[in-house]
Amino acid sequence: MPAVSELFQALIALDLSVGDCGAPVNAVISGGRRRVTAKMQTLMENTGVILAGPCASLTLKNPILTASGTFGYGLEFTPYGDLRKLGGIVVKGLSLKPREGNPMPRTAESACGLLNAVGLQNCGAEAFLRDILPALPTDKVPVIANIYGTTPEEFAELAGMLSEAKGLAGIEVNISCPNVREGGQLFGQDPRQAAAVTAAARARAGRLPLIVKLTPNVTDIAAIARACEDAGADIISCINTLSGTAVDLVTRRPRLAVTFGGLSGPAVKPVALRCVLQVARAVSIPVIGIGGIRNAEDVLEFILVGAHAVQVGTASFSCPDTVFRIVDELPAVAEKYGVSDWKSFRASLIAD
Ligand SMILES: Cc1cc2nc3c(=O)[nH]c(=O)nc-3n(C[C@H](O)[C@H](O)[C@H](O)COP(=O)(O)O)c2cc1C
Repeated sequence: MPAVSELFQALIALDLSVGDCGAPVNAVISGGRRRVTAKMQTLMENTGVILAGPCASLTLKNPILTASGTFGYGLEFTPYGDLRKLGGIVVKGLSLKPREGNPMPRTAESACGLLNAVGLQNCGAEAFLRDILPALPTDKVPVIANIYGTTPEEFAELAGMLSEAKGLAGIEVNISCPNVREGGQLFGQDPRQAAAVTAAARARAGRLPLIVKLTPNVTDIAAIARACEDAGADIISCINTLSGTAVDLVTRRPRLAVTFGGLSGPAVKPVALRCVLQVARAVSIPVIGIGGIRNAEDVLEFILVGAHAVQVGTASFSCPDTVFRIVDELPAVAEKYGVSDWKSFRASLIAD
């Protein structure tokens, strides 16, 4: 069993209060245990989704994935649930060479949210492929590698390395990290640069679906999404964190060593819903919604505005079994809101 990651330990020690573990949905809905109805049974059997892109597709047994950087490399969470239950696992962002990340302190709690400036600490793609991927149950759960580069060529090289890997189900391209000096969200803030990275990675991704992850720190997220779609993205995911900072009145210093970080957690959910709605209306490829999700109701809200699937992030720090619990709760909560299948429910928001 791998050691629980340093960040995860630190956040558990912080007793992060960005979400509550919540009561089991059976209790929430009816004040007690609830019978599994025939309708719920059908939903449980049909929770699968296919995210079909122009070059490649991602098939999930349910629409719940983990968000990069909040679930380690997956194995750290085996004490909290069965990884095979998940729709998919997106691992911590990988670069060509190992990265130490930013100096400490690099996390700060804020009202209903978390600021982080971890700076993409990771073991490097080579070590991931050699030591970690073979230990993951890739025959039972899709594992997606999240990648970070400082030039389009680096993204292409990473995509090429990963496309050869046995067991990998997809590549998520991070053009949206707000707390690294080079590359990061700069690629995701300009449609031409976003398209250049997408095209470079797509050209080397081979059989794997290419997910491009967008930043909310832009004026027109729909324009960036369209540029990525035109450049060959199979799927769009959004959002990454929002740029922010936190300061300490006593020391009169920033609470993060590198001053600026990325905000995540329940505080960002309204922004994420707005971004997913705008992106889903702008593109015809599938969209994965991310931002502040901590229960099955949140998942339904993202699907209602047009998401095909979602990723659960910061909630896993405050309650490490959150993503497993959401998978269990989803059929009953869907039934409560009269949802009988994803296709008819997706993007069915009634807005004037
Ligand atoms: C500590 C931390 C590390 C993260 N690392 C990455 C990363 O390596 N790559 C990436 O694309 N996103 C990364 N993210 C962003 C999340 O995947 C997600 O997009 C964001 O936190 C919003 O979702 P949430 O509110 O559910 O956490 C990170 C987020 C946090 C909090």
